[in-house]
Parts: sequence; structure tokens; C-alpha cells
Amino acid sequence: MNAPPKIYMAGHRGMVGSAIVRQLLANGQPGDRIVTHTHAELDLTDQSAVRAFFATEQIDQVYLAAAKVGGIHANNTYPAEFIYQNLMMQANVIDAAFRHGVQKLLFLGSSCIYPKLVPQPMREDALLTGTLEPTNEPYAIAKIAGIKLCESYNRQFGKSHGVDYRSVMHTKL
Ligand SMILES: NC(=O)c1ccc[n+]([C@@H]2O[C@H](COP(=O)([O-])OP(=O)(O)OC[C@H]3O[C@@H](n4cnc5c(N)ncnc54)[C@H](OP(=O)(O)O)[C@@H]3O)[C@@H](O)[C@H]2O)c1
Repeated sequence: MNAPPKIYMAGHRGMVGSAIVRQLLANGQPGDRIVTHTHAELDLTDQSAVRAFFATEQIDQVYLAAAKVGGIHANNTYPAEFIYQNLMMQANVIDAAFRHGVQKLLFLGSSCIYPKLVPQPMREDALLTGTLEPTNEPYAIAKIAGIKLCESYNRQFGKSHGVDYRSVMHTKL
């Protein structure tokens, strides 16, 4: 019998990450096959630390729920932190996962990636068809880059390496 996959849950103490861990356990995933680290233990903006982690752990699947997250005020006050930290975390994790043979990865996006004046109800193909809401544009641009990272690794390495990296926009948190 195959061993259950070894899963890296990035952001396991967050609102979404903790819910995913609960669901994985409820679905029968053994706790000792879910790898977690706090921000203090593994700073995902640190490329060499992230590469060293993946080199050591032999991860099979990744849930990427670690991010710098906040409301309108925080996004408006700290735009540099929102774009820099989110770009770095997702680029480091996605690339290191690929370099170490991870075939399945789930990236968590946000509905703020869609244009401000998008026709309702929003459709997926409205992405990149208009101007974003200015207060959270840096965060949204980082999230769009995360989606494009997943798409690009799939396009380039899907057939050759079995890469299947997916992005979900969870709109009802
Ligand atoms: N909350 C929302 O309304 C909402 C809406 C749309 C999309 N999303 C997306 O859903 C995902 C999860 O959001 P959430 O609400 O669960 O966030 P959250 O509760 O703020 O949790 C964020 C998690 O990210 C980790 N983290 C932050 N910076 C890190 C770093 N540099 N290195 C390592 N870990 C780091 C934190 O670790 P520690 O616990 O160790 O500090 C925490 O576990 C994110 O991608 C977010 O953009 C959220």
C-alpha cells in the first residue's frame, strides 16, 4: 500500500490554513504526514531557508495559505509590505516545490484580483480586463502573479514533470 502523501501546509495557524488542516485530518490524512512551521520557524520570504526546507523534507503536496493578509486600512497603509512579502513567499515556495519534485500545489488567491468595476456576477475570464481597486492593488497584483506562476509552471513543466499547480479564489471567507 502506498504511504499517504507528505503535505506541507504553509500558514497552518491562519484562518484558512487551520481550517484546511482540520479538513485534511477529518479526511483521514495522518497528522504526522502534515508538515507545518510557524512564521518564526520558517520565514517564507527567505529564499535560501525555503529551498533548504524543501531539500530536507521531501514534500509531495503543498497548500500555500501563508500570506500577508489584511483589510482596506492595512493594505492602504503598508502597500510595500503587501506586495513584497506576498510576491516573495509565493515565488519562493512555488519554485522550491518544483525544484524538489512537488507535483501538486494549491495556491490561495483572492477575489480582489478582479477589476473594480467588473460586471456582476464575476466571471473568471474577467481577470486582467480592467483597473483594480486602488487601495489593495499591490496585494492584488501579487496574487495575480501567484496565479500566473502556477499557470506558467503548469505550461512549461506540466507534461514533462507532471506539475499540476492550481489557484483558487475563495470568495466567502
Ligand atoms: N482572510 C480573508 O478574508 C481572505 C480573503 C481572500 C483571500 N485570502 C487568502 O487566503 C490565504 C489565507 O488567508 P488567512 O486569512 O488564513 O490569513 P491569516 O489568518 O492572516 O494567516 C496567514 C498565515 O500566513 C503565515 N505567514 C505570514 N507571513 C509569513 C512568512 N513571511 N513566512 C511564513 N509564514 C507566514 C502566518 O504564520 P504565523 O501564524 O506563524 O504568523 C499565518 O499562519 C491567503 O493567501 C490570503 O491572501 C484571505
